[in-house]
Amino acid sequence: MQFDDELLNRLRQAKRLVFFTGAGTSTESGVPTFRDEQNSLWINFDATRFATESGFRANPGQVWQWYAERRQQLQTLSPNPAHRVMAAWQDKTAGVTVITQNIDGFHQQAGSRDVIELHGNITANKCVDFGHVAPMDVNLSDQPPHCQQCGSLLRPDIVWFGEALPAVAYHFAEQLCFDCEVFVCIGCSMEVYPAASLPFNAARSGAYLIQINPQATPLDEVADCNLYGKAGEILPQLWQAVWQEPLP
Ligand code: OAD
Repeated sequence: MQFDDELLNRLRQAKRLVFFTGAGTSTESGVPTFRDEQNSLWINFDATRFATESGFRANPGQVWQWYAERRQQLQTLSPNPAHRVMAAWQDKTAGVTVITQNIDGFHQQAGSRDVIELHGNITANKCVDFGHVAPMDVNLSDQPPHCQQCGSLLRPDIVWFGEALPAVAYHFAEQLCFDCEVFVCIGCSMEVYPAASLPFNAARSGAYLIQINPQATPLDEVADCNLYGKAGEILPQLWQAVWQEPLP
């Protein structure tokens, strides 16, 4: 792909750069997206059943088991070149932050530090009544275990529909959007709020906005540069074009 000079200069010179990622970033690792393809999760499974607190309370065993399968699947998969480029960018220059909607932990596995997880992480659990955080070595059997503090059921510590985002993470993310010079939005359908408001806020605050996605999204009209294609292909090319050196 050919990149224009302004794009390359902005990336090279940025002192505060945000990578903002959605499910499309992990597609090339083999993780299904939520709503854009035939095998997407919310096309094949009812989100009100599997991604709401009321769905969990109505059928805790089935929902727990569904997430256990997701966890097992993730253990067989690994980060792809898109995750690795973002981690290398953080090593190359100061002021790079990854904000993600993904719950798979692949950014950290690829080496990114201080990742802001807006929708939680599938490896963590909390209790359904009070949000007590469960120890990481909780027994992941067929049925949800009980909270050691209050006895209520444990559920994955991720954000379900109708729930607030983690307040501190969202606050930091908002600040970064107001402050950054370049904002790169990767693999997001821009349908789920409030996370989807962040790229728009960054653009309003004067950031140079880059989008990487094979499909058009509501962000196309606002972005300064739309790179249509797969993150795992475009990001390594962008690294090479900006830094003129191979990915470490
Ligand atoms: P979606 O499934 O809504 O959208 C995935 C996006 O990735 C689409 O715009 C695709 O075109 C794009 N895409 C697909 N393959 C790609 C590739 N190889 N490279 C780049 N982009 C690609 O996923 P999100 O926008 O992340 O919430 O969904 C937002 C939230 O909805 C998720 O965080 C999830 C879900 O409910 C939770 O899990 C809490």
